[in-house]
Amino acid sequence: MRFSIIAACLALAGGNLAFAPPIAAQFATTASTAAFELAPLPYSTDALEPVIDAQTMAIHHGKHHQAYVDNLNRAINSDAALADLSIEQLLARVETLPNSIRNNAGGHWNHTLFWQIMASPGSGGQPSQDLAHAIDAQFGSLEEFKAAFKSAGLAQFGSGWAWLIVKPDGTLAITTTANQDNPLMAGAKQPGTPILGNDVWEHAYYLRYQNRRGDYLDAWWQVVNWAEVSRRFAVAREQVG
Ligand SMILES: [Fe+2]
Repeated sequence: MRFSIIAACLALAGGNLAFAPPIAAQFATTASTAAFELAPLPYSTDALEPVIDAQTMAIHHGKHHQAYVDNLNRAINSDAALADLSIEQLLARVETLPNSIRNNAGGHWNHTLFWQIMASPGSGGQPSQDLAHAIDAQFGSLEEFKAAFKSAGLAQFGSGWAWLIVKPDGTLAITTTANQDNPLMAGAKQPGTPILGNDVWEHAYYLRYQNRRGDYLDAWWQVVNWAEVSRRFAVAREQVG
């Protein structure tokens, strides 16, 4: 029952979420039982064409992300002590939890960010002045940052993510994580708050780019929603003081 609204939306849209409403309560749970929910995409499945094809988006969101949500709920419902924890609380204690929760909580958090920090090609704007200054200070220029981020994404062996994070000292860093791990997790090699992340699992790009991960990483900048990344940067900087 908990996914009935989403299922109905998908059915009505025929998998093409052209009407996608704003994301609210993205990590909502019910009060008594863990029931994380998959929010609709904030745009239609073909909105990121030609950079990311509609079929990839439909499968990635409707199948892969849905599976992370379903498996997370299944894992949490087997342990009553976890029922009232937020997704961030789960990430902060993954070292003490089963891998099923680590993988699926990470998968849910990571993909929820991923959908939000993308937008139709050409509509994502530019980094805010504050973010642009921070990027220049850390990496030299936006172009040098993009090159370093691409290198990190290419160097991630196998499945994983490349991230731009705000470190606890407020500065920026590029890091990578394997599988569905992220820098919010306990024990992360480079802890911080992700404000931008690219999914380098093959399921994110294989239909259009096959083995050409570098081409995907290059093209992906066309669909980065810099307004949302800048908003997340401002929030993260405020939190670290
Ligand atoms: Fe993915």
